[in-house]
Amino acid sequence: MPKPIHVSVAWPYANGDLHVGHLAGAYLPADIFARYHRLKGNRVLMVSGSDSHGTPISVEADKRGIPARQVFEHYHRRFLQTQQKIGISYDLFTHTDTENHHKVSQDFFLKLLEKGHLYKQRQKLLYSELEKRFLPDRYVEGECYICHYQGARGDQCDNCGNLLDATLLINPHNKGNPSDRLTIRESEHYFLDLAQFEPQLLDYISRHEHHWRPNVVRFSRNFIADGLQGRPITRDIDWGVNVPLEGWDDKKLYVWFEAVIGYFSASVEWAKNTGQPDTWKDWWYNPDAEIYNFIGKDNIPFHTIIWPAELIGVDGIYNNAAVGTRHAVSLQLPYDVPANEFMNIEGDKFSKSRNWAIWLPDILERYQSDAVRYYVAATFPETADSDFSWEGFLNRVNGELLAAWGNLANRMLSFAYKRFDGKVPVYDKLTPDDEAIIAQSEAAFGHIGGLIEAVRLRDALQAAMALARDANGFLDRRAPWKTIKDDPADAARSVYAVLRVIDNLKVLLAPFIPFTSQKLHQYLGYDGHLFGDLNIVEYAEASRRHEALVYDGRAAIGKWEKSALQPGQALREPAPLIVKLEPEIVERERAFLGAPREEHAIEA
Ligand code: MF3
Ligand code: ZN
Repeated sequence: MPKPIHVSVAWPYANGDLHVGHLAGAYLPADIFARYHRLKGNRVLMVSGSDSHGTPISVEADKRGIPARQVFEHYHRRFLQTQQKIGISYDLFTHTDTENHHKVSQDFFLKLLEKGHLYKQRQKLLYSELEKRFLPDRYVEGECYICHYQGARGDQCDNCGNLLDATLLINPHNKGNPSDRLTIRESEHYFLDLAQFEPQLLDYISRHEHHWRPNVVRFSRNFIADGLQGRPITRDIDWGVNVPLEGWDDKKLYVWFEAVIGYFSASVEWAKNTGQPDTWKDWWYNPDAEIYNFIGKDNIPFHTIIWPAELIGVDGIYNNAAVGTRHAVSLQLPYDVPANEFMNIEGDKFSKSRNWAIWLPDILERYQSDAVRYYVAATFPETADSDFSWEGFLNRVNGELLAAWGNLANRMLSFAYKRFDGKVPVYDKLTPDDEAIIAQSEAAFGHIGGLIEAVRLRDALQAAMALARDANGFLDRRAPWKTIKDDPADAARSVYAVLRVIDNLKVLLAPFIPFTSQKLHQYLGYDGHLFGDLNIVEYAEASRRHEALVYDGRAAIGKWEKSALQPGQALREPAPLIVKLEPEIVERERAFLGAPREEHAIEA
């Protein structure tokens, strides 16, 4: 039975380009996971989109002196192109400014209100005397009152990871305008009554903690142990989703309240687009489905506490008996939240303001997508912070991806193509050594698949590369380029055995480096596509056009299955799979770090 797997990926703020931190934190792990499950024949729904609201967008818009909508549309468009290029195979990558998302978020709000999970309260907030408005948390900086880190933001401390109350910060000031005078004023807001959900959240965590990452369990348990406070879910801002109540025109829903709802609303949007508008229930109202939230560690409380609370709170939403025949069950909570730690760059923290960043659109102009994917996956910060270094990139791409894999495949395919008449060799029988290496590569499907299912992706990649190295050792031992002279039958056996192993590795590595595996698939003489197509699609909404990235799996033929390579199968002329990197790239790339990046204008 195909298992319904939902891959929910953190929604990037559309206030700047994507960088390797995004890739390492959430998008690449999610993509590897989704591609694997598709190969396994499971029913994957992978969604995300641009987080178009929130102060990160407004801050960028203010800086450029243009409307927030223009900022978000510009970066949304670039997100589509970048992710298509590096192959993040979303079934739907949409954004939070669709009519659908606004509507679903408002429905969530109203349902929570109706069920008594929201309360209204006057709140003390920081007010900018200079700008004559309540200052959004992100504009506020000060000393963290928990860990005493100096650069804490009004909403969250990047040092200790705690969510903060801006009015409690020590020495709060306006980030954009240090001479501003901040005063405290009152404003009325709706709060999500988190404390109501404590028993359900504890139960939820205890049902899952045995398979969650230790840092995710620790963070979530501490969050509850510290006492669940009501959290304001409306804001005094003008860019966002309207509060669906009369008299609330000057306020919006809080971006984090509605962005997490995107996992759900995007599923609804996806189902609508397929012409079967109820199919989202196959994941969200199906106890057999598993929902995985791929996020960075700074987002943990939103995904293990607040989002589950919202889901528990709106229980029954859109599942009235009149629709469909399914039994009413509870909305599914995330099955796993495999949060990654951070990926630093050349030993230093990512910083947009200092341009200490590796921007994906830039490096994808210069390097193969699979080279970037390989290096980032090999250094995923799954258990601790990791580091992207250009020296490391050079060494791993040349010394591992090229030396152990690209060259192996290329050497063997060229040899077979030239010396065996462009065909997979026909052999009489295999030696025990040949049988053993084939058996080893076949056993890898279970082992590596298990690691991917447990979201231990770095280990899975390592296991595949270890197999490639064993195949190299085997090839050196068997040396068909020698035996072909006086024992061509033995050469045929050994070449066949290596090609079988390569054909297996093609699949084992496909979730990680899909472009390379696809090329290899062609060289081995197969037709068709291991994966489906990733298209930028435009469709109309009532008010305006809407562009999205959409995975179309109809053409996909790839399967997580061992090779049945036929002797005599016609090969295609191979070409090198992996481009060798020159050592000069290290200095050249390092020079970009910390230097001003060319700003692209945003057109209206
Ligand atoms: N936009 C947020 C960030 O970049 C992540 C939002 S994840 C979501 O940190 F679940 F809320 F969508
Ligand atoms: Zn702190």
